[in-house]
Amino acid sequence: MERRNIVYIAKSLDGYIADKDGGLDWLHSTPNPEQSDMGYNKFIEGIDALIMGRTTFETVCSFDCDWPYTKPVFVLSTTLTGVPKGYEGKIEVLNGSLTEIVDLVNNKGYNRLYIDGGRTIQSFLKEDLIDELIITTIPVLLGGGFPLFSNLPKKMEFKHIESKVYLNEIVQNHYNRKR
Ligand SMILES: NC(=O)c1ccc[n+]([C@@H]2O[C@H](COP(=O)([O-])OP(=O)(O)OC[C@H]3O[C@@H](n4cnc5c(N)ncnc54)[C@H](OP(=O)(O)O)[C@@H]3O)[C@@H](O)[C@H]2O)c1
Repeated sequence: MERRNIVYIAKSLDGYIADKDGGLDWLHSTPNPEQSDMGYNKFIEGIDALIMGRTTFETVCSFDCDWPYTKPVFVLSTTLTGVPKGYEGKIEVLNGSLTEIVDLVNNKGYNRLYIDGGRTIQSFLKEDLIDELIITTIPVLLGGGFPLFSNLPKKMEFKHIESKVYLNEIVQNHYNRKR
């Protein structure tokens, strides 16, 4: 199967993925009476594994719910010395060069990878390792916080695949990297 590294993330109008305190309440600011998942479950069905940054992992751990993932999760960290207690069998901790990390995960048979976390996505983009961007824009200006994008060493072009509007307010754009 073709190897793809895919970003699926929600951002504010001004390009943040968490507010100044790391808060995510604004993601749910649009009334959603029918509990639309905005394509999330279909997306998750189509991936083999996740690679996420340590901050995102810790945010997920802080949610008052069971472990939400049914696919293998690889957490990038230079500071975690092992898998935190309670997460054995749920995650693996990796660190090193991104190409080595992606090779290692691909060699385990996981080809379609969901790349999650701000700094993680930025470091993948810096090395041109992202093949698809699925970005859901919430109509709010946060005024600061954790940015989705940062400086890049070169211009990178993407081809628009489709746009969807959810709840009459939330726009989801899907792009493929032009190579
Ligand atoms: N809006 C959304 O849809 C959405 C989605 C995901 C996350 N979020 C939120 O956005 C924020 C993301 O935080 P963040 O920007 O700090 O990003 P992050 O990517 O989640 O975490 C950054 C951490 O990941 C580790 N890391 C990243 N690249 C690495 C590499 N190549 N090798 C080893 N370790 C690496 C480092 O951990 P160490 O410091 O341990 O080395 C780094 O400090 C969180 O608040 C999260 O809840 C929002």
